[in-house]
Amino acid sequence: MKVKVCVGSNCTLLGSMGILDQIEELQDLIREDEENYKDEELEVEAIKCLGHCKIMHGKIAPIAVVDDEVILNATSQAVMEKIVKKMRKE
Ligand code: FES
Repeated sequence: MKVKVCVGSNCTLLGSMGILDQIEELQDLIREDEENYKDEELEVEAIKCLGHCKIMHGKIAPIAVVDDEVILNATSQAVMEKIVKKMRKE
């Protein structure tokens, strides 16, 4: 699965680096506990501004994209929950 986190200036100001750090820690946890997770690579990518923060008014940063699902006002917790839900074996 692929997770992208926007590291444009708006998103960075509102904490996207923290989200990236947490995902990296989660990658380690998944590697250590591979029995409980699907045999699927968790790819993480820092991306430039997608433009959402400029098109939409109001506070929507930081933004993360989990597979093709865009998460506005992303928090580490919301992103991690989504990843774990998709990657954990039933
Ligand atoms: S800075 Fe993240 S969407 Fe614009």
